[in-house]
Amino acid sequence: MSGTDAGTTLFRGVLPYGEGEPVDVLVADGRIAEIGRVTQRADRVVDAQGLVALPGFVDLHTHLREPGREDTETVQTASEAAALGGYTAVFAMANTDPVADNPVIVEYVWQRGRDVGLVDVHPIGAVSVGLRGERLAELGAMARSRAGVRLFSDDGHCVSDPLLMRRALEYTRALGGVVAQHAEDPRLTGGAQAHEGPAAAERGLAGWPAPAEESVVARDCLLAHHTGGRLHVCHVSTAGTADVLRWARGRGEGTITAEVTPHHLLLTDERLATYDPVNKVNPPLRTAADTEALRTALAEGVVDCVATDHAPHAPQEKDTEWACARPGMLGLQTALSVVVLTMVETGLLDWRGVARVMSERPAEIAGLADQGRPLRVGEPANLTLVDPEARWVVRGGELASIADNTPFEGMELPATVAATMLRGRLTSLDGKVLS
Ligand code: DOR
Ligand code: ZN
Repeated sequence: MSGTDAGTTLFRGVLPYGEGEPVDVLVADGRIAEIGRVTQRADRVVDAQGLVALPGFVDLHTHLREPGREDTETVQTASEAAALGGYTAVFAMANTDPVADNPVIVEYVWQRGRDVGLVDVHPIGAVSVGLRGERLAELGAMARSRAGVRLFSDDGHCVSDPLLMRRALEYTRALGGVVAQHAEDPRLTGGAQAHEGPAAAERGLAGWPAPAEESVVARDCLLAHHTGGRLHVCHVSTAGTADVLRWARGRGEGTITAEVTPHHLLLTDERLATYDPVNKVNPPLRTAADTEALRTALAEGVVDCVATDHAPHAPQEKDTEWACARPGMLGLQTALSVVVLTMVETGLLDWRGVARVMSERPAEIAGLADQGRPLRVGEPANLTLVDPEARWVVRGGELASIADNTPFEGMELPATVAATMLRGRLTSLDGKVLS
């Protein structure tokens, strides 16, 4: 929908980046038309007193499950969750069924996103055919398709063959793309069920050792420097990986970026005590020292951004014994609150920092020209309004996703998304989707 169709909207008394005095923000033709004391009439007036305005959030890592697992999530339901969570763009992981390793599937997902129209859905293309890690997928054809793929990932699986990774970095470089790596050496994690440490040992669960991630990240950083290709490290989960990234950035800026999930900023392997598979995720929940190190790395910019790794699963895949359960957690509607809890309430980030890690950096990494833009007159009206004083209790059954596997069930979390706007059109308001 174009901004003209959306009419004009006036946000009264909002705080851009949570700073200074409240201002009015007028949106017209899909763009920010005026900031200040606005006297002009508007088609819609939103009382935004006490709300913080931020650029719309961008999620580089979302599992939408369509095609193939529409019993757990669809582009429609994930778009609703995204709009309610403050997102204006999401990147759809390629581990669907069939796998998004060719132009037909990425165009299908892209088109579904446009039809729903609540959030920009950007398909990620698989690096290898069928995610099998053997030969490169049709990277160029996906890049040239209507979906305009720029991010490539075998997420769920690691591109563990160093030669394939090298070629992927070279080809994507030529395409202006990025390889998003799920860093996990499968030789070190075969059969693993939880972070390797005392908590897993006590319960007799096979361990997923931190070096299985760190060694692949180190290798890939060296390959990125060598090839000039762009590497994005998915869901950084250990203090050691943060150290590797610090070291790699010291050797030359620009080609390496990284994300952390909200759950790895907050939850630890102490959750194993419950034996509840809702806490099973890949990479696994680590130690309190790791969450501390990840928070510091995010605050410092060693880790660039937050990405949800929103991973819906059916009840029968989660309400089962730990070893049989699928890894993954919902994230789109809880991400902001967990970032506020772990980064804002701890003093590690202010609202400008939240804009950086939730909007600006992910948009830059993905090369989106119209997302993550500053709140200025003339910029596209992709906006999120946050109520910083509100608190809410998470109920999986009340989230927009079909699946309900949230690890934050019953927790009271700070901050709510009061409104989301995509190119001048409100997509959510006061916890309701506007379609
Ligand atoms: O926990 C996870 N779930 N990690 C992944 O890498 C894949 C994801 C999924 O697709 O469920
Ligand atoms: Zn992954």
